[in-house]
Amino acid sequence: MTTEDRLSWFRDARFGMFIHWGIYCQLGFGEWVQFTLRIPVKRYEILARSFNPVRFDADAWAMAAKNAGMRYMIITAKHHDGFSMFETAVDSFNVVQAAPWKHDPMKDLADACRRHGLKFGFYYSHVREWRHPKASSWEHGSNYGNSWDYPDESTKDLNWYIDNFDKPQLRELLTNYGPIGVIWFDTPSEISEEKSRELTDLVHELQPDCLVNGRVGNGLGDYESLGDDEIPVNSPGTDWETPMTICRGWGYYDKSDNEWKEPALLIRQLVSAASRGGNYLLNVGPTPEGKIPPEALERLAAVGSWMDTNEESIRGATATPFSREYPWGTTTFAHGKLYLHLFDYPIGRVELWGIKAAVRKAQLLSYLGTDLPVSVIDEGGIGGIAVYLPSACPDPVDTVVVLEIDGAVERDGPVAEQQDGSVWLHAFDGKVSKGAKSLIVSSAGITEGWTDAGDTLAWDFAARSPGDFEVSIVTKTNFWGEWDFGHVVTVSCADQALTASIEDSGGHGRHRAYEERITPCG
Ligand code: GLC
Repeated sequence: MTTEDRLSWFRDARFGMFIHWGIYCQLGFGEWVQFTLRIPVKRYEILARSFNPVRFDADAWAMAAKNAGMRYMIITAKHHDGFSMFETAVDSFNVVQAAPWKHDPMKDLADACRRHGLKFGFYYSHVREWRHPKASSWEHGSNYGNSWDYPDESTKDLNWYIDNFDKPQLRELLTNYGPIGVIWFDTPSEISEEKSRELTDLVHELQPDCLVNGRVGNGLGDYESLGDDEIPVNSPGTDWETPMTICRGWGYYDKSDNEWKEPALLIRQLVSAASRGGNYLLNVGPTPEGKIPPEALERLAAVGSWMDTNEESIRGATATPFSREYPWGTTTFAHGKLYLHLFDYPIGRVELWGIKAAVRKAQLLSYLGTDLPVSVIDEGGIGGIAVYLPSACPDPVDTVVVLEIDGAVERDGPVAEQQDGSVWLHAFDGKVSKGAKSLIVSSAGITEGWTDAGDTLAWDFAARSPGDFEVSIVTKTNFWGEWDFGHVVTVSCADQALTASIEDSGGHGRHRAYEERITPCG
């Protein structure tokens, strides 16, 4: 069994449900509450005594995932708090022995997923753990382990913990619950390559079909896990997945500042992930009673109803050369067809510059049966196609146009002026200056390490007709990112140059994959 074989369902699915559920949900403050409030292990244990989620219904959860268009479910078997949400012989601090419920929900979920045709997987925190005295977790010089109960770092022994705690638990998880689709490790911190490899091998030995995500550490695993909530701006060129929050955090949070994401944002993120050949793993945090919060259910239903019409544009999508953001949206490519996703429905027609392939047929996924007129366009030496649209917008969140094409879908020619007159020079289209001191463009398509004033990024682009252009610099971060302002940037073209200092212009464009700041230049 190779990684390629293991990945086949994952590549087809493109959309899964993540679930963060543990005894912490009773405090309504997310899954990090023990760390945030430095709750001693002895006090934290008391939380288990009241965990009795009698309204839990595994079928209801599986149905919510399935009806949203998801194809897999991954749930926290053990999070950083060390409470096992499954029956285990390794530690009595588990849902069957320590909680009045005396019930193993993982059994029900594994069965329900099988019944509803979903792959089932476990999240397992293999390094970061606040309960076990030997576990340790350092990252970039910060201690994310339990330093309040166990301040003496010299007594910690991560390798011992992995061998004596993780491995027997993984054996249970991969033996007692039938076929498992993924073991989803998290926060590798300082784990050695040897230990990452041992864990990966153990999973594959016990269940050869089971995927291991990249957070097992040290570049191992069957696919790459991007950062929390990170949607890359172009394809990283690997198999990847992004875990995404539906509100401000992962575990149940019952405060009013919950920041539920709009269904439109969730749908567009799912599309953007599929566009760049990746999976969207959308999280829910069930309540102490065992219910998925109604706000989450509403959102899942909204994504599901969009998927009812547009699923074929997502399932099995591979990275397209037109996966960038256009003024009107983006594209996905699946099973030989190209899909134009219109997030901002253009008036009259949608233009796709730089496409070589001949379009045989164009239709709206929501009105299959009626062909849309298509024409080949050519201006100022650059070519493309235009698809003519009905004037009433069928779906303001994302109307999908499916293109049947002859030949390969390839992008040709330089970055082109778009139909709204804009020319978008993305970092990933630019050329880094020869011998650059520190600047790189990362695999996620963004600049990194641009600290040397001599380093430059350059683009060739084609304007359709001569004219004056306003120049703006768009900087973006994902939701968790930090801003770093005050950089002075010079933009030059032919013999003209403009300079701007990147300042905080306030949030903008949160409906796209990233939050933006726009700095006018001049
Ligand atoms: C982070 C957090 C964790 C959460 C995970 C989801 O690493 O530590 O609480 O489970 O992201 O991706």
